[in-house]
Amino acid sequence: ESAASALHDLTGRRVLISAGGTREPLDPVRFLGNRSSGKQGVALAQAALARGAHVTLVAANLEVPVPTSITTVMVSSALEMHEAMALAAESAEVIIMAAAVADYRPKTVQLGKIKKEDVGNTLTLELVKNPDILASLSAARRRGQLIIGFAAETETDADRLLTLGRAKISRKGCDYLVINRVGQGAGFGTERNTVTVLDRHGVIVNEASGSKVSVANCILDLIG
Ligand code: CTP
Ligand code: CA
Repeated sequence: ESAASALHDLTGRRVLISAGGTREPLDPVRFLGNRSSGKQGVALAQAALARGAHVTLVAANLEVPVPTSITTVMVSSALEMHEAMALAAESAEVIIMAAAVADYRPKTVQLGKIKKEDVGNTLTLELVKNPDILASLSAARRRGQLIIGFAAETETDADRLLTLGRAKISRKGCDYLVINRVGQGAGFGTERNTVTVLDRHGVIVNEASGSKVSVANCILDLIG
């Protein structure tokens, strides 16, 4: 843990964090999902709380428990997360979008279970794009609000990873982008994380590797 965590340097700051992975309903018993466990987002919430912040966690389908001391809004789909984040953002000073939001959702949600008999040998799903929560929060940003996004990338080449990150932060309009390599034992579901943080000019401002709590504290060092 960084030394800053003992300083209560975030005392009274209102921090809003999204965590987990959204599930996009297909019918009453099925969804499309992703491999996010919510560990990094929950670690951010715990670390911010330990540093004195007022924390609100918007949580989607977490695989890890949340300490009862953290105010949590439970959501499931991207549309639900969008609504919860837009509402909570009104009183947040810092917003961290650590959640893995589904980019697409099934265009229609069947009222009854999809039956093989009605479908046949191949099932084609039509998906529609979800709203970009981070981009819309950035566009609606209130004065003085600090907004931090994550980027989940499978790119293994360091230079190409940075290029992707720079393009992504300029699309999103947030203040910082935490680039997180995922896949093959990195990122999703793991205990440790390795991240590179870019500012809005695409400059590397921080690099961190270690437990998700230590990575969380490095990210929180940006707020100050
Ligand atoms: N995000 C969001 N709303 C979406 C999709 C993503 O708020 N509908 C947020 C994520 O929470 C993350 C950031 O945007 O903080 C980047 O997500 P990522 O999946 O890496 O980027 P995308 O813009 O969705 O691009 P792609 O998946 O094609 O790389
Ligand atoms: Ca995405």
